[in-house]
Amino acid sequence: MTGKICGTGSFAPSFTMDNHDIAKLVETSDEWIQERTGVVRRHIIREETTVSMAAEAGKRALDNAGMSAKEIDLILVSTISSNVVLPCAACEVQKELGAVHATCFDLSAACTGFVLAYNTAMAYLASGVYQNALIIGSESLSNLTNWEDRGTCILFGDGAGAAVVRACDQKAYIPVTHSDGARGAALSCTSRYDKSGLAGNVDPQEWMEDRYLMQMDGRAVFKFAVKSVPQAVEELLEKNQVEKEEIAWYILHQANRRIVESVAKRLGESIEKFPMNLQEYGNTSSASIPILLDEMNRKGLLKRGQKIVLAGFGAGLTWGASLLEW
Ligand code: UT7
Repeated sequence: MTGKICGTGSFAPSFTMDNHDIAKLVETSDEWIQERTGVVRRHIIREETTVSMAAEAGKRALDNAGMSAKEIDLILVSTISSNVVLPCAACEVQKELGAVHATCFDLSAACTGFVLAYNTAMAYLASGVYQNALIIGSESLSNLTNWEDRGTCILFGDGAGAAVVRACDQKAYIPVTHSDGARGAALSCTSRYDKSGLAGNVDPQEWMEDRYLMQMDGRAVFKFAVKSVPQAVEELLEKNQVEKEEIAWYILHQANRRIVESVAKRLGESIEKFPMNLQEYGNTSSASIPILLDEMNRKGLLKRGQKIVLAGFGAGLTWGASLLEW
């Protein structure tokens, strides 16, 4: 027993900021951002929240799968930017959708989060514990972005993507996942609650201190990504005895166009196999892979039987690649 994606959905806030808007906040330019990252604009929450976007993306995935929320027995939300600490975002999504039979929990692995949520759902489906899983990546990174730091604020955006995974009898593939906590400082964000103590008395003056916002050594993360992702993909193909020629699409975490291009080059694969939508959304962490998957699905680009590689990388450090058959 394994699982198959039978529906996808996504949601992005209607408010957008283009590179010219960012250039009003920090010393940068549209030209620099496009050349170094590929990003043109990003969607930013206004009334939306991580939970509301997750619920909408989940609803759209259920509609796409032709399933009712009551058929779902597992909801996994991957997020690092939930607007709720308790109850978890997945339980809030359950409430919104009326998925009364689902077991719900969140998963925190930043930009590798959706790949790990997919693997977790597949393991549960394979073992027969659950039959229908709704997996979601949803992020409001704008809440964690330091809008005065040009090294990070040019990159990130908000949004959510979701997939319904259903138990079925077909070939199971083994995923590849890695973590290296020793290199975690390259991309970090300290909890606002870390020194609140029993009284919860964070000084409001300190609330927006840099360390409560995302901090990144961009060059270090870039180097890590362009080396680790091709290695993980090679390992994945080797483990599953699959040749590169058999892969129709590589759906990579949408962090930076130059990272995607470099991974394609190192793998010796055509860039045509590496779809990108980061120009429209920026880097939406765990939402980027399912948003792209949904766009491709709705455009009719994904054909039954095609082999697809999902690959994520980011804070932790964490990285991994999974193989699926559409
Ligand atoms: O989701 C996973 C986690 N994140 C990532 O995958 C991000 C990985 N890293 C990156 O995408 C890139 O490192 C960045 C886009 C963040 C930065 O691009 P870079 O090509 O690595 O730039 P850099 O940090 O090496 O900086 C090059 C120059 C520097 O000037 P000097 O020292 O050469 O004079 C920077 O001060 O560009 C300058 N710079 C900028 N200039 C205009 C840095 N940021 C900006 C900016 N606008 N926004």
